[in-house]
Amino acid sequence: MNEELAHLHEVSIGYVEPLVQDITIEIAAGDVIAILGPSGIGKTTLLRTIAGLVRPLSGDVELGVEPRGGLGYIPQRLGLVGNLSVRANVEMGARVRLSKWHLPFLPLPKDLNEEVTNCLESLGIDHLAEQPVRILSGGQQRRVATARSIAQAPKLLLADEFLGELDDDNVEIVMSAVQHVIDKQNSALVMVEHHEELARQVANRIWKIHDGRLIEED
Ligand SMILES: Nc1ncnc2c1ncn2[C@@H]1O[C@H](COP(=O)(O)OP(=O)(O)OP(=O)(O)O)[C@@H](O)[C@H]1O
Ligand SMILES: [Mg+2]
Repeated sequence: MNEELAHLHEVSIGYVEPLVQDITIEIAAGDVIAILGPSGIGKTTLLRTIAGLVRPLSGDVELGVEPRGGLGYIPQRLGLVGNLSVRANVEMGARVRLSKWHLPFLPLPKDLNEEVTNCLESLGIDHLAEQPVRILSGGQQRRVATARSIAQAPKLLLADEFLGELDDDNVEIVMSAVQHVIDKQNSALVMVEHHEELARQVANRIWKIHDGRLIEED
């Protein structure tokens, strides 16, 4: 049995009224999970609940990852800093791995600096490193957000529609960069994906939200 990274036990998610109820499911190292379902059904809410950003209405979410840096989250609205360069945004991910005494204006240690360069290369955005993020296209910004999360070296990566706006070649670039991290660190990816066919190509588990329930496909 692979290492368990998260366990949801009889979890009900939502804000005031429940959106999805009675979720009991585990996430193990090596999993690539796609969450499918129509708009407004609760996919983002589920990711945010696993990430600890939203409290479950009932039930328990147990995480088996380090609280600092072990969990990566790529939000649907990417949360990049538009006026900073691509490189500075990706460095923010890497900085999570430093002790809290490493002040944000100090340069990164050499090994992490090299890792940031590798992340930029693996996502095909090294030529954009010095550009401010705000001038990039939507798909380029998505790759910056992915590079930032990968630089963090998370054990569990939660990604909300991070393949959106990417053409086939870039989907391949992003997925192979993420798969590399999963293999290297024995981590897992949980992704929300609108495009069902694409989800089936890249994921090895499919979760569907339907009628207020989460159903895992065989
Ligand atoms: N902070 C919030 N407070 C109250 N209700 C919210 C909040 N965030 C989202 N909702 C509501 O919860 C429902 C589910 O939203 P959620 O963002 O999880 O959907 P989704 O499945 O990710 O949709 P999409 O595919 O459009 O991104 C929606 O009706 C939304 O309006
Ligand atoms: Mg959403």
